[in-house]
Amino acid sequence: MSQNPLPAAVPLDPEARAALDHFAARLSPAGLWWAAGYLAGLAQAGGAPAGAATATGATAAEAGVLVLTASQTGNARRLGEKLREALVAAGHIVKVVAAADVNAKQLVAARTLFAVASTQGEGEPPDEARGLWELLAGRKAPKFADTGFAVFGLGDSSYPLFCEAGKFLDERFATLGAQRLLDRIDADVEYADEADAWIAAAVAAVPAPAVRAVAPTAFSFVPAAVRDADKDHPREVGILAAQRIVARQADRAVVHYELEAGEGFAYEPGDSLGVWPLNPTAVVARVAAHLPGAALDAPVVRGKHERPLGEWLGEQLEITRLARPFLEAQAERSGAPELAAVLDKSPAGAARLQAFVATANVADVLERFPVQTGREWNAGELLAALRPLAPRLYSIASSRAAVGEEVHLTIASVDNGAASGHLWQRGTAASGNTVRAYLERNTHFRLPADASQDVIMIGPGTGVAPFRAFVQERGETGATGRNWLFFGARHFDTEFLYQLEWQQALKDGRLNRLDLAFSRDQAQKIYVQDRLREQAADLWSWLQGGASLYVCGDATRMAPDVHTALRDTAQQQGGLDAEAAEAWLAELAATKRYLRDVY
Ligand SMILES: Cc1cc2nc3c(=O)[nH]c(=O)nc-3n(C[C@H](O)[C@H](O)[C@H](O)COP(=O)(O)OP(=O)(O)OC[C@H]3O[C@@H](n4cnc5c(N)ncnc54)[C@H](O)[C@@H]3O)c2cc1C
Ligand SMILES: Cc1cc2nc3c(=O)[nH]c(=O)nc-3n(C[C@H](O)[C@H](O)[C@H](O)COP(=O)(O)O)c2cc1C
Repeated sequence: MSQNPLPAAVPLDPEARAALDHFAARLSPAGLWWAAGYLAGLAQAGGAPAGAATATGATAAEAGVLVLTASQTGNARRLGEKLREALVAAGHIVKVVAAADVNAKQLVAARTLFAVASTQGEGEPPDEARGLWELLAGRKAPKFADTGFAVFGLGDSSYPLFCEAGKFLDERFATLGAQRLLDRIDADVEYADEADAWIAAAVAAVPAPAVRAVAPTAFSFVPAAVRDADKDHPREVGILAAQRIVARQADRAVVHYELEAGEGFAYEPGDSLGVWPLNPTAVVARVAAHLPGAALDAPVVRGKHERPLGEWLGEQLEITRLARPFLEAQAERSGAPELAAVLDKSPAGAARLQAFVATANVADVLERFPVQTGREWNAGELLAALRPLAPRLYSIASSRAAVGEEVHLTIASVDNGAASGHLWQRGTAASGNTVRAYLERNTHFRLPADASQDVIMIGPGTGVAPFRAFVQERGETGATGRNWLFFGARHFDTEFLYQLEWQQALKDGRLNRLDLAFSRDQAQKIYVQDRLREQAADLWSWLQGGASLYVCGDATRMAPDVHTALRDTAQQQGGLDAEAAEAWLAELAATKRYLRDVY
């Protein structure tokens, strides 16, 4: 039922009225405003969309212009959307499709194909694009006949395999017969200007449309108050509670947060919250101490902006995370061979760099590898070498069905961490504190639509957060499928996150199975992947019965080890050889029954 049924005197037949009522009931306030703008746009253009004349509802073949996005944390997706808006404003009919949802037929049917892809892991595609990568590299790769394409790669030049995913797509599309319209872009962390230039070039590269499409977004008049909070429009969100959920002796603090969300945060289980951090004041002071004579309130120019030095260091630039441009400059100014060795581009150097950046920040580097006399930084130079501050993402650990307007998070505190430290400081200070946050949708990490399907959740450490949301949601909505959780940490006594909640859920049937791996409670280490191997027969049986499998948490070791354990299970239980076991896992991923959210 709609909350706002239509008044009686409307120029709609009963069927259209019922359809509109039904449609309106499904929309959030932001969705309703958008739809109002869309309909006004259609009316102004002279009538209802004639099939292909819609900008968002067209099929790829009808649309002609396909924007493909492969994204992990939303940047590529947002850029794809921005490109769509520019193309629609120029009168083109456009469809945006995520790599997880695209198929070969859609790709080859596109007259123009724009791809925006980020690189993850060590030169890997985003999780959602693993199936597409296999398709494009495999024997069944589609052949393009009459498609023009351009690729925008997003990456970070601190990684040894820079923008590898963009390079892969660009090479594959060309080899498979598509015609390159624009040179590939390999964009680094500060990509906004390059992206704007690429969007302009992309719009210019598409032949002018014969008939101008309706551009509903041009009529959008969503009031700021109901617009979903996003990366560029975060909201101040109140911190209601901050509760340490590991014992004092635990190796590091893990904190359960409860935030006051409300409008603009209509999240679903699987989504993340983006938090804009503030740098710790102690680290700001240590960095500023290396700028002789510079005061924190002194204005400094960086790029197109002038701000006080303290604001640049405290709110605008990364000083807790290290990146290659600053390290290279400091290596040069200090002449320190140790720092130069970390930057060596060999595979051994890459491993050294990874280990180094995990344990040091900008202040540490300035102190440990001092500049030579005469090579001191001035404020403008140092700021230019630093990167813009980026928001941090946190898996939402609650279901709105269970907690209403709140958002719960499970955060491991990192020493001098910009976001985790900032939240802890705010959360434990007097009440009334807020953080700037927005909702980052994760449409590829969703519970099965069929509530009778079983789910297997593998989430050691803070990786358990989204599974708290899953179990809450399935409990509240009366899902009949079974729920099986694998959780791991170092010690049972000190780090069993949400222990009482899981035990209660087992008792009342919201959780059917719980397997635990406490790595350091015995002589030999036991991890979740070991528990998976022990439970191989049941695991196989659940998966054969249609269960969906979810993995969340550490990307470096846990996720690959879990993958290997799953492959071994398929070999051992299903009698498959290694290649067939990999193909089975790829098929599970392609059918959205093997989903990962790893970081
Ligand atoms: C999709 C996604 C979901 C995530 N969900 C969660 C979640 O539910 N809970 C959660 O706690 N985190 C989660 N993270 C990680 C989170 O976004 C931050 O990276 C993390 O909290 C560190 O941010 P910070 O600003 O506190 O530290 P930073 O300021 O980024 O780092 C400070 C220093 O600590 C080091 N460091 C950074 N991260 C770690 C780490 N994890 N362990 C040890 N040292 C580190 C850095 O190298 C640096 O030297 C998620 C990440 C992604 C991409
Ligand atoms: C865990 C992780 C691994 C990454 N690995 C690479 C890499 O190997 N090469 C690269 O160029 N960029 C790498 N990046 C940088 C991302 O590609 C970059 O942040 C990009 O803007 C993310 O876009 P997205 O939000 O669409 O996923 C990595 C980022 C993260 C968080």
